Amino acid sequence: MTTSTPLIGFLACETTLPGAGDRRRGDAYEHDLTLAALEPAFAAEGLGLKVLDWEAPLADFDRLDAVLLGTAWNYQDKPNAFLAKLEALERSGIAVHNPPAMVRWNLTKTYLRELGAAGATTIPTLWLDDVTAEDAREAFGHFGCDRLVVKRQIGAGALGQVLLRAHEMPGPDWRFGHAAMVQPFLPAIEREGELGFVFIAGELSHALRKRAAKGDYRIQSLYGGVESRHEPADDEIEAARAVLSALPFDTPLYARIDMLRGGEGGDDGLLLMEAELIEPYLYPEQGERVGEHLARAIARLHLA
Ligand SMILES: Nc1ncnc2c1ncn2[C@@H]1O[C@H](COP(=O)(O)OP(=O)(O)OP(=O)(O)O)[C@@H](O)[C@H]1O
Ligand SMILES: [Mg+2]
Repeated sequence: MTTSTPLIGFLACETTLPGAGDRRRGDAYEHDLTLAALEPAFAAEGLGLKVLDWEAPLADFDRLDAVLLGTAWNYQDKPNAFLAKLEALERSGIAVHNPPAMVRWNLTKTYLRELGAAGATTIPTLWLDDVTAEDAREAFGHFGCDRLVVKRQIGAGALGQVLLRAHEMPGPDWRFGHAAMVQPFLPAIEREGELGFVFIAGELSHALRKRAAKGDYRIQSLYGGVESRHEPADDEIEAARAVLSALPFDTPLYARIDMLRGGEGGDDGLLLMEAELIEPYLYPEQGERVGEHLARAIARLHLA
């Protein structure tokens, strides 16, 4: 709490900051869209906003009251350094949104197992230390499907993800090479797409639908995925809210709950793909009021 203008840090990284030149990420325009949404809303609430690289020296964070994890999208390459920095900021009295304990928990996708046990409906998953061709063969039998998605337990942006087809199995020496999650390929991704629900301080800000480019099944903008507005039905909001309630933490300042419809026909209930609590893109183009929602929630926390 402070009586002067609270100053909120927006953590970016060297490849999302506008100064990155040729090294700027292909999806860094999302950084620009986020700031365009946040800047006026923060000003209207009497909040200062300072954009900085999360790897900047601690002294640069001196006057901040709080930080948002923003577009710190390179943390997967150095998760320990990222966590150490967030913990150092917290120790120095800066509120970290979302806090390092939540980030640590959300870093490894095994959290999905925990949410499933706590009542969220998750995608059926086999958790393996590595995946061999034999494991894949067994997984096809286990799920009774003809396509499998194999992904890393620690990963983002669909990096290193593999789609296996029953009729073109990898050779006997094939290894995935990472601690993995093996899931049946859910055809809903090609029909309806993935639904994202953006919650600010526990309230739904907006929802959106993410579709993959033709011939791909990954909805990320880096692979040509496109988003559109989505007016969620009550049962969809309820499914997303149930995930939020299953979190082993107090309500996070922000969360994006990504869900995909289950079933061979792609018309069953929504299943949890990911609960993004670290630095989710908040899709301001599909939710013009997200800046306002976030600024208000922060003002409630940090304005005396
Ligand atoms: N079981 C599945 N069935 C169909 N498509 C899937 C499945 N799992 C993942 N995908 C597709 O792959 C994409 C990436 O998967 P996921 O979101 O789990 O991984 P990620 O690496 O954490 O990606 P990001 O952090 O960018 O969301 C999904 O957005 C979706 O398009
Ligand atoms: Mg995802």
